[in-house]
Amino acid sequence: MSDPVSIRRLYGRRAGHKLRQGQSELVEAALPQVSVPESGPLDSRILFGDDRPLEFEIGFGAGEHLAGQATARPDHGFIGCEPFLNGVVGALGHIRDGDLQNVRLHMGDALEVLERLPDASLDRLYLLHPDPWRKARHAKRRMVNHGPMDIIAAKLKPGCEFRLGTDHPVYVRWAMMIMNQRRDFEWQAQTAEDFLTRPDDWPETRYERKARRLGHEVWYFRYIRV
Ligand SMILES: C[S@@+](CC[C@H](N)C(=O)[O-])C[C@H]1O[C@@H](n2cnc3c(N)ncnc32)[C@H](O)[C@@H]1O
Repeated sequence: MSDPVSIRRLYGRRAGHKLRQGQSELVEAALPQVSVPESGPLDSRILFGDDRPLEFEIGFGAGEHLAGQATARPDHGFIGCEPFLNGVVGALGHIRDGDLQNVRLHMGDALEVLERLPDASLDRLYLLHPDPWRKARHAKRRMVNHGPMDIIAAKLKPGCEFRLGTDHPVYVRWAMMIMNQRRDFEWQAQTAEDFLTRPDDWPETRYERKARRLGHEVWYFRYIRV
């Protein structure tokens, strides 16, 4: 079912506009302090020095949601992965401004980090406004595919939550098809209200704000790992 080649490849851009001097200094000073170790197994103890619950965000963009969740649960550890340098700068700014001690970052592919965690080790995983790869011939690149979802399923604790947000109509249909084929996740929605209303503990992301400005409907999928 899964396509290992498409899981391994990282698509999309890694750098955008040139960093200002203050941003470069922030990256140099702060990124090494919060970076996920480059190799070897990972767990709460290695990352935070204790056995705290872990949460994980794939593609945190500018980091506002990651920082919001980390602020709300200072006793949890948060791992955020984002290959886009300008996004990493944003997250470092949130970490500095909020004096957040419970966030670790990886500038690169989330799946590489996920694979190094023990199975059933995550309390939550967030995938918010993933790149839609709207052309049908690029569908294999979408993060919601059985290959990546197998890894996500393995790393979530049973009873814990996978959250997916998107405003993209192609992605909505695709995600529903893929997730409907899986027996290891249960969609929590009972009424349309449940997936069209942002839960209180779901901080708004930059892409979500942009989508709303454009008048798009935003979908908030919540799945429980069975
Ligand atoms: C459309 S943006 C959404 C950003 C943010 N979640 C938001 O809602 O504002 C998708 C992000 O996913 C990141 N991304 C793509 N593939 C990734 C991967 N394999 N691991 C981690 N992040 C990835 C991209 O760099 C991009 O910043």
